[in-house]
Amino acid sequence: MEAVSFSRRQWLVAAGAVAITSIGPTRGGFAEQLDGSGKDLIFRTIDPRNAEPELSKLVQSWITPVKHFYVRSHAPNPMIDRDHYQLTVEGLVRNPLTLTFADLDQMPRHSVTATLTCAGNRRAEFNQEGEVGGVQWEAGAIGNARWSGVALSDVLNRAEVLENAKHVWFEGLDEIERDDGVIPFGGSIPLEKAMEDGKVPGALLADQMNGRDLSPDHGYPLRSVVPGYIGARSVKWLGKIFISDKPSPNHYLETAYKIVTNTEPIDWSESGPIYRYPINGAIAMPAANAQVQPGMIDVSGYVLPTGRAGATVQRVLISADDGVNWQEAKLTGEVSEYCWQLWNARIAVTAQTDKLLMRATDTSGGFMPQRVEWNAKGYLQNSWYKVPIKVS
Ligand code: MTE
Repeated sequence: MEAVSFSRRQWLVAAGAVAITSIGPTRGGFAEQLDGSGKDLIFRTIDPRNAEPELSKLVQSWITPVKHFYVRSHAPNPMIDRDHYQLTVEGLVRNPLTLTFADLDQMPRHSVTATLTCAGNRRAEFNQEGEVGGVQWEAGAIGNARWSGVALSDVLNRAEVLENAKHVWFEGLDEIERDDGVIPFGGSIPLEKAMEDGKVPGALLADQMNGRDLSPDHGYPLRSVVPGYIGARSVKWLGKIFISDKPSPNHYLETAYKIVTNTEPIDWSESGPIYRYPINGAIAMPAANAQVQPGMIDVSGYVLPTGRAGATVQRVLISADDGVNWQEAKLTGEVSEYCWQLWNARIAVTAQTDKLLMRATDTSGGFMPQRVEWNAKGYLQNSWYKVPIKVS
């Protein structure tokens, strides 16, 4: 039998490991918890797990089933036993907390439907202008789920945040191997966002996704979910919350997830972290290079309005003649704050049509531009979506 080695911290969190479904390969002494949710995804990398659905499957329903929900992880899934799990809340608070699930279960529960999307969604399209590194995402690094848990603001109110606090840091329990050592994934959000108490709480500490416990790939047993912000701010396998007067110094807030054209230290310092996502969308069907006959064809896809409170999709437009004429698509699925909509259109194509174009606008003034300037990390690609087709 293969020996499985654990780090010291894993022995602490995994003691009594009742919730472990299966133990994956070890990497540097770190045993991975495999995901048993029957993923039906295209894996861009296997270690760590980075995968997106086929677009035709992604747009089958407004709520994305877990098996078709993209996975973006920087390290193996840590093994965490829910019964021994503790969340610490420290920093600029009057009342530091150590919360177990027994404590969290006493707090009011909220359910929020929100779309999660990676800042690198559609990254591969940047390669046409200049190569970008990182996971080569097409347009599937997005999904819409029902998240349930406690409002971050309720936890912060219980901890009694001090007057000079400005940022809420999140830290995961994963162990990411980098040249400068092993670090957890982390980041922060402004305190105002955390304390937002509109119809949708500013942030949730979620233990459920689509009515079931989070699967290991999605942050079991607890993650933050920050509606309206890029996926990187929704930290999986959450272990620690820290309140500060400064943004988090974690690599994934301080350096990564910024728009830079050069990657010298000065460029990282001069650029701010990405928080809110811009409007984006894609054509899911027909698929790239599909063969279709001249005449009317069905086109469908998704559109996500800007991650600003109250923003909703205004129009989705499709062109079959390189942007000369545009036809409005019909929006389907619910209209809900911080959620995508699906859309469909029936559009005429001729032997001259070599591609379909899609663009969209939202009620906050957001629009998909014709071109997005290339950036070194390939973030926030939200230009007009193009799909090549063959008409004959
Ligand atoms: N949290 C931890 N702890 N580790 C990670 O690697 N990836 C982030 C975020 N939270 C990540 C994380 C990124 S970049 C994204 S886009 C989302 O998780 C993806 O969430 P998902 O895998 O549940 O779709």
